[in-house]
Amino acid sequence: MSASLPTPLVEMRGISKSFGAVSALRHVSLSVLPGSVVGLVGDNAAGKSTLMKILAGAILPDSGSILIHGRPAVYDNPIGAREAGIEMIYQDFALVPELTVAQNIFLGREQVRRRWGGVRTLDTARMNRRARELFASLGLRVPSVTSPVQALSGGQQQAVAIARATGFEAELVIMDEPTANLGAPAIEKVRQTIEGLREKGVAVILISHRLEDIFAIGDRFVVMKRGEIVANREVGDTCSEEIVAMMVTGRDPRAEGPTA
Ligand SMILES: Nc1ncnc2c1ncn2[C@@H]1O[C@H](COP(=O)(O)OP(=O)(O)OP(=O)(O)O)[C@@H](O)[C@H]1O
Ligand SMILES: [Mg+2]
Repeated sequence: MSASLPTPLVEMRGISKSFGAVSALRHVSLSVLPGSVVGLVGDNAAGKSTLMKILAGAILPDSGSILIHGRPAVYDNPIGAREAGIEMIYQDFALVPELTVAQNIFLGREQVRRRWGGVRTLDTARMNRRARELFASLGLRVPSVTSPVQALSGGQQQAVAIARATGFEAELVIMDEPTANLGAPAIEKVRQTIEGLREKGVAVILISHRLEDIFAIGDRFVVMKRGEIVANREVGDTCSEEIVAMMVTGRDPRAEGPTA
């Protein structure tokens, strides 16, 4: 046993998941160190979102286990994962269209106040104010925190999903294509948000087809193909040509022995 190796924040061990006849994940293992930024990449249908939904408690695996700070995770839903310090920005945002921006941000963690007589009511004014402060601190824009989310553009909805996942106390924020609907200035804000999280010691798993973002702000690439992790690379030890080649072929040339 080495005392110098830090305990991973998260360890996923031997995770498998099938949807009917589709084997989405086959015995996948992944560990993330505290405060590190991991870029999770792979072709469409590689299993990236499924693996992260399992970590975020939104899908249950068929087999395998998850450790957090070296102890078995006990959650089986997203609220439980949040209590364990894990937040996720879903690829489809997972917002409630009829609720306002602020209501979406405080969904599941509504703030209440006690009136005379001890009656508890929602503190809407406080949630709206805190939501405004959150957007200001993130540098992201929405028309109004009292607009229903369904009245927002795709990019504005993405900003709401980012604010919801990053504005609270998390140890790991998972971002599934957080910049897919954003223009260049907003992409820059998301990069700054990730850097701000890292400075606070928050780990990030970033799923992105934009390899340049991972080279700019990430520590490590994890490459998936057809339900398996095929390679791990330090950002400083690879280049985009190598990553793309491994995404396409599903093989790590450095892991292969001499061919016969
Ligand atoms: N709820 C589901 N029901 C049935 N099949 C699913 C479901 N979710 C995912 N799959 C299948 O599992 C496989 C992995 O999908 P997943 O969404 O994890 O891929 P991905 O790597 O995130 O792809 P993309 O880059 O397109 O987002 C795909 O074959 C997909 O069709
Ligand atoms: Mg996906």
